[in-house]
Amino acid sequence: MFKMTLKALACALALGAAGLANAADPIVIKFSHVVAEHTPKGQGAILFKKLAEERLPGKVKVEVYPNSSLFGDGKEMEALLLGDVQIIAPSLAKFEHYTKQIQVFDLPFLFNDMAAVDRFQQSPAGQNLLKSMEDKNITGLGYWHNGLKQLSANKPLREPKDARGLKFRVQASAVLEEQFKAVRANPRKMSFAEVYQGLQTGVVNGAENPYSNIYSQKMYEVQKYITESNHGLLDYMLITNTKFWNGLPADVRSELDKIVVEVTAEVNKQADALNQGDKQRILDAKTTEIITLTPEERAKWRDAMKPVWQKFEGEIGADLIKAADASNQI
Ligand code: LMR
Repeated sequence: MFKMTLKALACALALGAAGLANAADPIVIKFSHVVAEHTPKGQGAILFKKLAEERLPGKVKVEVYPNSSLFGDGKEMEALLLGDVQIIAPSLAKFEHYTKQIQVFDLPFLFNDMAAVDRFQQSPAGQNLLKSMEDKNITGLGYWHNGLKQLSANKPLREPKDARGLKFRVQASAVLEEQFKAVRANPRKMSFAEVYQGLQTGVVNGAENPYSNIYSQKMYEVQKYITESNHGLLDYMLITNTKFWNGLPADVRSELDKIVVEVTAEVNKQADALNQGDKQRILDAKTTEIITLTPEERAKWRDAMKPVWQKFEGEIGADLIKAADASNQI
């Protein structure tokens, strides 16, 4: 009897040990963002979770928090540094407190199209920017596209003078503030989660965003006109806490690195189609007129806004601006 009990005890201990090994907690990666799920970034976060959990079963668990549900604009960077969230993907307009160089992406009328954006992001200068904040414990894992921004308002904006005196919501970016000042409009910094209400209540009269954000936040319901200006870029840097990433077990990190490359390629392949689909959905809603600019009208916006480049040349660096501009040539 005593023998049996010992055997049973040994068995129970063995099972317990195995149970403990199985129950070894997976590494939890919280991925927080501010946009809706059906957007390039929203879809990218979902795909990252799917691939990470499929390929690292039991080792990694990814929790995705969309729509500022965990942290909004004002808090997510701080939360990343405190270890309260492990991956975020802020728009490139939201890094100016960490490095001035990334402001290059906000310069109006810098990139002719997304192919030029791709060339710059993949160039040595673009890749260096991913590493430019490591001294602050922030590692850039890749660039995710949303796309080019369109202006919106409740009056038709065909020429810069149409924007005069209007209040435009801007992201937390000094470049974007200057961009609107350049057309004698009034920029107001506001977090993304507040834009719909800001437009609805008239705290601001207009905004700038790619179609996917305008559609998914229902901004088109409170904006009668969208001008297809393609005047600037809204892309993201997928970032992590450097110490966290470097501290991951080597096998987990190398698999996650591969997954990041795969997801980045997929996001960047799908982003344009998503924006075009949302443009069509806005047209179908019949609440908003989409204005196409003539080349002459667009040139007026460019001439009015481009002097902003010079204002930031000192902070960003003339060479970096030149390198980005050079990506327009194939
Ligand atoms: C915005 O604040 O308008 C955007 O940066 C939101 C986003 O993440 O696309």
